[in-house]
Amino acid sequence: MSTVQLNGGQQLAMKYYTVAIALFVAQILFGLLSGMQYLIPDFLQGVLDFNVTRTVHINAMVIWLLYGFIGSVYWLLEEESQTEIVGLKLGNLAFWLFTVAVAIVVVVFLFIQMGPGDDFTRWFVNEGREYIEAPRWADIGIVVCVLIFFYNVAATFIKGKWSGISGVLTFDLVALAGLYLAGMFYTTNISVDQYWWWWVIHLWVEATWEVLVGCLMAWGLMKTLGVSRKIVTTWLYIEVALMFGSGILGLGHHYFWIGTPEYWLTIGGFFSALEPIPLVAMVVHAVYDSGVKHMKANNNPALAWLIAHAFGNFFGAGVWGFMHTLPQINLYTHGTQWSASHGHLAFFGAYATIVIAMIYIALREVRGQQSFGADLPDGGWKWKWALGLLNLGVVGMTVALLISGYEQSFIERAVGGSTWLGYFTAQIHPWFVQGMWWRMFFGFVTSAGIILLVWDLLTIGKSRKSGVEAAPNTQTAST
Ligand code: HEM
Ligand code: HEM
Ligand SMILES: [Fe+2]
Repeated sequence: MSTVQLNGGQQLAMKYYTVAIALFVAQILFGLLSGMQYLIPDFLQGVLDFNVTRTVHINAMVIWLLYGFIGSVYWLLEEESQTEIVGLKLGNLAFWLFTVAVAIVVVVFLFIQMGPGDDFTRWFVNEGREYIEAPRWADIGIVVCVLIFFYNVAATFIKGKWSGISGVLTFDLVALAGLYLAGMFYTTNISVDQYWWWWVIHLWVEATWEVLVGCLMAWGLMKTLGVSRKIVTTWLYIEVALMFGSGILGLGHHYFWIGTPEYWLTIGGFFSALEPIPLVAMVVHAVYDSGVKHMKANNNPALAWLIAHAFGNFFGAGVWGFMHTLPQINLYTHGTQWSASHGHLAFFGAYATIVIAMIYIALREVRGQQSFGADLPDGGWKWKWALGLLNLGVVGMTVALLISGYEQSFIERAVGGSTWLGYFTAQIHPWFVQGMWWRMFFGFVTSAGIILLVWDLLTIGKSRKSGVEAAPNTQTAST
């Protein structure tokens, strides 16, 4: 490691990646606690209630994925722009500010679990908007840090070279950062509040985040397989057009039952039904490139996780999303474990996977540009088992939740007519309860996977002397 010279952006990226993985571990720990509380409702009652464990679980997820994305952009920035990063010192400062803010927010979540909901709470404790619950002071801090990040990216590309990928990326970051502001808009009308809050959540994961990972995928395929820049850029443009074309108005699938006008039923149903199309294109692209290159990669774990991303995105977002996106169906499935089933497979399949792939791409360079192929000293058993267990665990949880969700839709909604009695009848039905146990079982499988993943990230390629040449040519043509 000592002989490796990382550029400034890459060094900063490694810091982001480190915190990302730490928060990933925290996410899983708090997921296990929330899952246990479904089975043993008074588990940790009064110490760490379900609302707290759940909040930490899903906020840690959003933050670690953002850290992973920011890290990935810093990682590729100097290479892609062919110049030195602009404003690195400021970028480093933003990293520390961001990280300290996250740590304070988590500590406050854990220590102030109850109290009134007033202006003080909104500013200093918990803003109360699912997934982005950080209080207002931290929101402002996050906006400042993201502006600095954006400055680093835009200024570096302006100084250096633009490419198709960097153009899409920079444009997308404007939208991604701007949308965060919609989640800071305060109103006492819950319908209006939810209306804007979905702008952040939906337009992040189904528009701007998808485009961002499209850029990372394009870059990752060039790095691992040596695919030509022309091919990945062409695909990227197609994917972006299809994604924005369907995903923006697909927003309507969250406006079916929150008090918004009825025309959203048609708009939301129609456009969100088109959303799987770009995801199919992404799978075709990845499989096509891998086939053309005969899967000859210099970095097998990264390529495997990129492929896991293509399929995970397609199944988790595309198929699992499509299943409940028509209003006629969503009427029965809305807010049941069906949503949680989709949420788990989509966030893991579309986003966790590609961040892990990007970290492996970085690690190959950190550990001296060696091959991460079949010739790894340990045969690569750790990364393979981590890949297998994590994917098996999440798919297992997804199926368990789907079975519980089906049962809820039938018993609570169709038979019980969405009454309280219907709700409780569904909650104690054996199919529901067994689904919750199986989720827990697969939660432990997932946990075993993450232990192996962390172990592998810390050790892969370390026992080999550096200087071993990478298998195929990794140099990428520039436009
Ligand atoms: C990677 C992309 C995606 C991610 C990460 C994702 C994640 C999620 C999550 C976490 C929820 C639950 C939100 C809540 O707490 O209420 C949700 C809801 C939903 N998603 Fe997705 N999703 C993605 C893509 C899609 C796509 C492509 C579709 C449609 C084809 C879709 C359809 C829906 C619908 C209809 C709901 C509302 C469920 C309900 O009524 O309870 N999603 N999504
Ligand atoms: C040990 C593994 C895990 C367990 C036991 C677990 C458990 C849970 C539980 C109990 C909830 C609350 C569900 C509810 O309110 O009904 C939840 C929510 C959620 N988890 Fe996990 N989780 C795990 C791993 C993950 C992973 C790896 C991801 C994605 C990367 C993830 C994403 C989510 C999301 C998006 C939600 C919100 C879903 C919604 O509101 O519909 N979880 N999880
Ligand atoms: Fe959505």
